[in-house]
Amino acid sequence: MGNEFGQKVAMITGGASGIGEAVSFKIAKEGASVLVVDLNEEGAKRVADQISSNGGRALAFSADVTDPEQVRACVEAAVSEFGALHLGFNNAGISGPLGPLTEIDLAEYRKLMEINLDSVFYCMYYQIPAMIAAGGGSIVNTSSILGLVGDPGAVPYVAAKHGVSGLTKAAALSYADQGVRINSVHPGYIDTPLLKNLSEEWYAGLVAKHPIGRLGKADEVAELVTFLLSDRASFITGSQHAVDGGYTTQ
Ligand code: NAI
Repeated sequence: MGNEFGQKVAMITGGASGIGEAVSFKIAKEGASVLVVDLNEEGAKRVADQISSNGGRALAFSADVTDPEQVRACVEAAVSEFGALHLGFNNAGISGPLGPLTEIDLAEYRKLMEINLDSVFYCMYYQIPAMIAAGGGSIVNTSSILGLVGDPGAVPYVAAKHGVSGLTKAAALSYADQGVRINSVHPGYIDTPLLKNLSEEWYAGLVAKHPIGRLGKADEVAELVTFLLSDRASFITGSQHAVDGGYTTQ
């Protein structure tokens, strides 16, 4: 175990699976105390238990990030259990409805916006005051390659993830002089449970969109997120960081 995040407390949403799980393990290994937040209580507990059995500090917290009161409770739990909040990885998300805009189910559209966009606002709303009280902090919001470029088959997801970029930029400007850095990460397609149920043909089509010739791994995203959360990224705020095997440079 290293100690890069010794004395730091982190709140990670979507921590029970995929990218959030990888970041939880990585920063806990570097000494952070981690509040593993997820709708999936069992998954969050599995991750927190594994961190604890490896000698780290973590607590599972079951919450729906689309409910501001539950998000407030997460921040309060991090502060009451671990003493403060310094790091936020706002990452919970779903893939959402696909197809042409006019064929999207409106209830599914709203649900996608609530989970993938509104939750990021709520998280920052409650995290930032706690971080200022702690003397500063770092937030990373999970956007996507589809927060940088369009895709005609995923209009709601593209809209939500571009929204995350905008929220990140504006919030970063608001708090740059108060010691809170805020950035977004933009993964290409990453082999996580989010992509389960894809046909072999669809999967091959996704691979072909990445010049590197494969999908990414959750650990490869976690490397970037960990760097942005750390003091090594002390002059980086308000910016968009792709980790996409070359997808958006084409
Ligand atoms: P995942 O499905 O493995 O993990 C997402 C987690 O979020 C799950 O544990 C789920 O229970 C949790 N979650 C969903 N709704 C929630 C809610 N309302 N409240 C609390 N927790 C909730 O997915 P993955 O791939 O790790 O995705 C993480 C983020 O990365 C998402 O925001 C996704 O949009 C984004 N992303 C994923 C890509 C991929 O190809 N896998 C590509 C680009 C971005």
